[in-house]
Amino acid sequence: MRVEPVRALRGELTVPGDKSISHRAVLLGALAEGRTEITGFLPGVDCLSTIACLRRLGVAIEQEGSRVTVHGAGWYALREPEDVLDVGNSGTTIRLLAGVLATQPFHSVLVGDASIARRPMRRVTAPLRAMGAHIDGRADGEYTPLAIRGGPLRAIHHVSPVASAQVKSALLLAGLQADGETAVTEPQRSRDHTERMLRAFGAELTLCGTTVRVRGGQRLTGQRVEVPGDISSAAFFLVAAALVPGSDLVVRGVGLNPTRTGILDVLKAMGAEVEVEETGEACGEPVGNVRVRHAPLAATAIGGDLIPRLIDELPVIAVLATQAEGVTVIRDAQELRVKETDRIATVVAELSKMGARIEATPDGMIIHGPTPLVGARCDSHGDHRIGMALAVAGLIADGPTEIARAEAVAVSFPDFFDRLRTVAK
Ligand code: S3P
Repeated sequence: MRVEPVRALRGELTVPGDKSISHRAVLLGALAEGRTEITGFLPGVDCLSTIACLRRLGVAIEQEGSRVTVHGAGWYALREPEDVLDVGNSGTTIRLLAGVLATQPFHSVLVGDASIARRPMRRVTAPLRAMGAHIDGRADGEYTPLAIRGGPLRAIHHVSPVASAQVKSALLLAGLQADGETAVTEPQRSRDHTERMLRAFGAELTLCGTTVRVRGGQRLTGQRVEVPGDISSAAFFLVAAALVPGSDLVVRGVGLNPTRTGILDVLKAMGAEVEVEETGEACGEPVGNVRVRHAPLAATAIGGDLIPRLIDELPVIAVLATQAEGVTVIRDAQELRVKETDRIATVVAELSKMGARIEATPDGMIIHGPTPLVGARCDSHGDHRIGMALAVAGLIADGPTEIARAEAVAVSFPDFFDRLRTVAK
């Protein structure tokens, strides 16, 4: 893909449905009793992997673009799959499904692509084993393929060393069928879409500080789910508008869950003009419109509790920081090293090719700005968010930028480049 510099980004757009919420909607629909109707579903490759795995477990699902109907027959209607469950590139699929499969009295095997094969799984397999599930995998349950034989589980209180919604969600799902009350404590709060959606499907949970508790033996009932636009997809446009002089862009219908809006805090802290208008709620999630206008940008410090609220936006925030006056320091973000790629290494390598003054640290990045960027031959490394972050960098570079393996964007945003063309002036 070739990206040319633009004069400005102007107008309005919507973005596809939230990836995290789309996964959860089909998954909870599959475990619930009765029909679940989903609108605004993200038909990206990752969420289609979740549908494919659930079909292989015997769940009837109709999907046409962003409309999905799931015919839930209850938690124990899942069947032993005849073949492996392939999660593709999707960490959310494998970790949440591991929690569900831990409750099922049959054998199943989870596999994924080369990126999934490198991602840490013991963070879910260890606590699920402690609940009583039989799980094996390479390096003692750290890596795929994972073989799971579930069954009756006992509740545990898991104190997670990382703030991870995937870990928390896997354990809450397993806990819904465990004997007793399961609790998960995190160092900081991660995104809470599972908790919100479980409540919408009729389950009871309690939250105290960063500890979530769920009683076993609860049933879910099928629902209508309207998935809001993905703020992580909107982020590429919001940052682009903040970067390109003369830009004025509105993204409509985007999810504004406070566990996800760290990007808006950073845009404001750096000096961009940001207006947020909350317009309503869908399935327990706040939704609204976000307008961003370009303004001179200044460096900021990013760390601590803010990190889980913008973890997926850090690649594009690094692009933003290249144009901010001063030194932007990102710390406490070591989780970036175990995403679809090592996002500290891939961001630093690719933005350096474009002339950015950026260095890696063990848990983040240090970025000096403002530094003019030059078009270069870059590579997404097969990571959707790296591909889109590089496209945003290409909009402000001097000369064209070539992005190899740009098709990776389809994991979360299949028509990203088309929508970019509609607002680029
Ligand atoms: C996600 C949780 C986050 C995030 C990922 C989606 C989810 O991962 O980075 O893109 O849907 O639960 P971790 O749970 O590993 O932090």
